[in-house]
Amino acid sequence: MGLIEELCNAYGPAGREHRVRGMIEKEIRKYCSDLKTDRLGNLIAHRPAKSKRGQKIMLCAHMDEIGLIVTYIDKNGFLRFTNVGGVFSERVPYQRVVFENGTTGIVGIEPSKDTAKSAVKPKFEKMFIDIGARDRKSAEKLVHIGDIAAFSQQAVYINKKRIAAKALDDRVGCYCLVEAAKRLKKSSQDIYFVFSVQEEVGLRGARTGAYAIEPTHALAIDVTDIGDTPEAQKMDVSVGKGVAIKIKDSQFIANPVIKDKLAEYAQSLSLPYQFEILEHGTTDAAIIQLVKEGVMSGVLSVPTRYIHSTSEVCDLDDINATIKLLTHICERGLG
Ligand code: CO
Ligand code: ZN
Repeated sequence: MGLIEELCNAYGPAGREHRVRGMIEKEIRKYCSDLKTDRLGNLIAHRPAKSKRGQKIMLCAHMDEIGLIVTYIDKNGFLRFTNVGGVFSERVPYQRVVFENGTTGIVGIEPSKDTAKSAVKPKFEKMFIDIGARDRKSAEKLVHIGDIAAFSQQAVYINKKRIAAKALDDRVGCYCLVEAAKRLKKSSQDIYFVFSVQEEVGLRGARTGAYAIEPTHALAIDVTDIGDTPEAQKMDVSVGKGVAIKIKDSQFIANPVIKDKLAEYAQSLSLPYQFEILEHGTTDAAIIQLVKEGVMSGVLSVPTRYIHSTSEVCDLDDINATIKLLTHICERGLG
């Protein structure tokens, strides 16, 4: 199994990223001069510049995924829950979930009379996790209030060129950073590879990471939505048409110098790229740009179908284009 599948399959909801962090630590250790975990849980890998003149660049991808947190256990052993991060309720019923200790569950849902409406937007309070327990007491041997479940779908390839997995948001970004670190020979820039925590609950790790590093320039690497499936929203981003360079999302406007530089690099490397305007959602760069006196920031996005579902889909060519562009940025700087 390759690193990208391993990263996607790993358990790591927001606030519980330690397993993903351990996997990345093992991979990146040889390719950086120092490696540390800050007090919030971000993993920061530093590759210092060969010269003193370089920029200080923070490259950031988040390790956390969305999840379900147990709020109540009923007398028959069913677990009630609420969301951790942006979980779409209609994508949850009948999915398999797994807790940190390996306990597996199935999400069930109460039958509803007005089926048409509740099928579109069912409520979490009508759902429960079935862990096979007979009663509250036997359930409590496996799971406690406050335990967080992650979805447990295993990664697969479809038509050889595309990967379908849960948590490609944003393990695909983590994978791209690790690969760029491995491919980077020598850099004239001071590079910080940051694997952030708690992005899905409000871009929290990116804030402390940027505060400590004080970068001059920053890029977030994350997934973005697409407009290329039947009846999708009008959006000029497609899976398989290259790395997306963000112009704007709901909380972020890319620095125009950085945005143009990214496009210029992509052109010079003959890499396919597309410009992205994302109407709903954001990523770590939205916070990084606001830290201290401000940071010139941009975003590279991997176009992804069915975001925040158990089968997010990315194209391998887009992933490779992202890695090549990132490696080039590490070598040349950002502006
Ligand atoms: Co997300
Ligand atoms: Zn994300």
